[in-house]
Amino acid sequence: MKCAAIIAAAGSGERFGAQIPKALIHLGDRTLLEHAIAALAPVATQIIVTAPAGYENQIRTLVGDGIEVVTGGATRSESVRNGLALVTSDIDYVLVHDAARALATTQLARNVITELSNGEKAVIPGLVQVDTVKSVDSSGYVLATPDRSTLRRVQTPQGFSRELLVKAHASKNDATDDGALVETIGAKVKIIQGEERALKITTPADLSIALSYIGSASEFRSGVGVDAHTFAVGKPLWLAGILWPSEMGVEGHSDGDVAAHAICDALFAASGLGDLGSNFGVNRPEYAGASGAKLLNETLAMITKAGYKISHISVQVIANRPKLGARRIEAIAALSNALGGASVALLATTTDGMGLTGEGKGIAAIASALITRNSDIRA
Ligand code: CTP
Ligand code: MG
Repeated sequence: MKCAAIIAAAGSGERFGAQIPKALIHLGDRTLLEHAIAALAPVATQIIVTAPAGYENQIRTLVGDGIEVVTGGATRSESVRNGLALVTSDIDYVLVHDAARALATTQLARNVITELSNGEKAVIPGLVQVDTVKSVDSSGYVLATPDRSTLRRVQTPQGFSRELLVKAHASKNDATDDGALVETIGAKVKIIQGEERALKITTPADLSIALSYIGSASEFRSGVGVDAHTFAVGKPLWLAGILWPSEMGVEGHSDGDVAAHAICDALFAASGLGDLGSNFGVNRPEYAGASGAKLLNETLAMITKAGYKISHISVQVIANRPKLGARRIEAIAALSNALGGASVALLATTTDGMGLTGEGKGIAAIASALITRNSDIRA
């Protein structure tokens, strides 16, 4: 039996209040949309994402090949209809899922499919209602108190036989879930046990709750890197990604940018991909004179290929001179730029005339890197 998944991601996320559509907000190391796709990819042979108008290309790049992207509509139901139009005729079941329910598990999708394969035509996950619910009139007066034990808070993925879902959507009606459209045409809808973690992320507070579910699931790794070079008369000084005119430069196989090199080593330490010497050392003549920015950029490419993302970089320059303070912002921008926009902090200190660089013979830097594992979003 073949299953398609329509992932509704075309909302603007008004209640969330971010500058970008809600589906593109990050939860841990990936967007809500990527989480939702990762959950359904193992059970769906066709995946269709509904994108907010104007974001189609960005979402196409994000989700990669093999996933169809269609422009959503003004309402969720309209978006789902746009996706449904692309479902191929060999599909038996369609799962409709909200990108906003980023943490629904693959197991929940499997449970829905199991019911469908047992003959149900419409299957919806739901949770018991813990609060008492009132229905009210437009002035805020209570009309009735429904019996709480008969109420369920419903979630997605909701699963349907393709034919039934197409029929339900033929009405072109609007509803906040697909189950309601199916109910309207008189079909039976079965509720199965939902998941707390399949909560719909609507506000920033919901994102915090969702984060608590994945807190330990993202793999964080840290690394430390150190570099030091002696001053060399007549060389330009490159430090922290920028040129320091009228400062004395340093010796080195490359441009001698100790801050950049310490960061590269911290990234190699965190990712376990060797070190500066083994990757760009003297046996690699193509890196002779290479800029710190170039080495940072190549290091970023290597760790990205290995599945890591930078969470934060901190680097401290240890030197009597130059004084970094006045150009700190400029240097942070240069380092961050070379690292694909990563969060970077830059500090400086002296060593009170002692050891290391206190004797005024050179410049050193210590960096730390925090990186996260970027899991593959397709099965
Ligand atoms: N959705 C959609 N097309 C729309 C509206 C919503 O595909 N025209 C999707 C959203 O992207 C979301 C899911 O439907 O994944 C559930 O909707 P909701 O949580 O309400 O998201 P938004 O509509 O984006 O949020 P808000 O209502 O706060 O604007
Ligand atoms: Mg909405």
